Amino acid sequence: MKTTAHHPDLARFATRGTLYLGAPEAAELVRRVGVRESMAAVAEAIREDFLRWPEFDKSARVAAHSDVGVIELMPVADGQRYSFKYVNGHPGNTRLGLSTVMAFGVLADVDTGAPLFLSELTLTTALRTAAMSALAARTLARPDSRVMALIGNGAQSEFQALAFQQLLGITALRVYDIDPAATAKLVANLRGSGLDITVCRSTAEAVRGAHIVTTVTADKRNALILTPEMIEPGMHLNAVGGDCPGKTELHGAILDAARVFVEYEPQSRIEGEIQHKGADFAVTELWQVLRGERAGRTAADEVTVFDSVGFALEDFSALRFMHQRALALGLGEYIDLIPSLADPKNLFSALGSAGSAPAARAAEPLAV
Ligand SMILES: NC(=O)c1ccc[n+]([C@@H]2O[C@H](COP(=O)([O-])OP(=O)(O)OC[C@H]3O[C@@H](n4cnc5c(N)ncnc54)[C@H](O)[C@@H]3O)[C@@H](O)[C@H]2O)c1
Repeated sequence: MKTTAHHPDLARFATRGTLYLGAPEAAELVRRVGVRESMAAVAEAIREDFLRWPEFDKSARVAAHSDVGVIELMPVADGQRYSFKYVNGHPGNTRLGLSTVMAFGVLADVDTGAPLFLSELTLTTALRTAAMSALAARTLARPDSRVMALIGNGAQSEFQALAFQQLLGITALRVYDIDPAATAKLVANLRGSGLDITVCRSTAEAVRGAHIVTTVTADKRNALILTPEMIEPGMHLNAVGGDCPGKTELHGAILDAARVFVEYEPQSRIEGEIQHKGADFAVTELWQVLRGERAGRTAADEVTVFDSVGFALEDFSALRFMHQRALALGLGEYIDLIPSLADPKNLFSALGSAGSAPAARAAEPLAV
């Protein structure tokens, strides 16, 4: 392979191949950086990328639905880098011993199309989703918010809790899940975190008195996790689990009485809580608030909703972070995802001597 590439990432690709970061190495990276510190860094990377929103080539993700779940492809690019994520959402998976959400993705060079970095994104999705939630809440919630209700205590939940502790100063959690074992797992995982955790017997009990309510449940239906009588003036709602057509968490009247913020409006109209609303239902894209172009919260008693579905740009930012840190820490391994060729026009040479072996005789029928 030629090694004339000038950019260090491309020169590395030309000489060594694609950097691959598997799940154990990604976990090692997060352990070394610190889970809260990783989410703070990902939140900052997302903020930087959202501030240059117009520079990105954006599209709603491509979804393949089945009765039990969805598989999605999420591409985005700027002038230098292209990324995509493959991700699924199958709420019944945990009964089969599989994760509800599983993901991997690629960061590539736009000038050449070279896949520089191939990474696990299951753990990384949890980091970036929590980082995104906390960034939105830091922008929209009342600054004196200290108590968060956390409804749904599955795979994403501890990450949400720690990101809100780190980025907003949340000190107390009120938690509820229909599965008591999930809540017990969360309590055990967050022991020693410094968070004061109250286990509640219902969503209504958990939400009472909370300043922020995070819903992160998994159920492939239009659920009513939050209903209007639970909502108190000034609350910020971080609605994470509703992210697919026919899969939502909030009663529609909550949205009518709130100010609603989304990531990328064309995708959120299809997948978000607002899928039940008309095309004229007013929403604000978060990047506009971050750039100071649109108002965020305008009154202390206003109810704000972050109608999160997960947008490709958040994965782009997270991949940037994981790539940089993997390089800095020497984690991951280089793999031959693409054939290494002395003459790039001679792809046939990748077959070695097998490529020039005599063709098998096609005339004789195969014995069955
Ligand atoms: N918006 C985003 O960017 C984003 C990113 C990742 C995941 N998600 C979504 O977040 C949700 C949670 O993901 P996960 O990986 O934690 O899933 P998970 O299956 O590990 O956990 C979901 C939890 O929700 C609980 N639950 C289901 N119905 C409930 C109800 N009515 N009340 C209380 N709890 C209930 C389940 O018992 C389970 O413990 C999924 O719907 C997933 O698709 C969204």
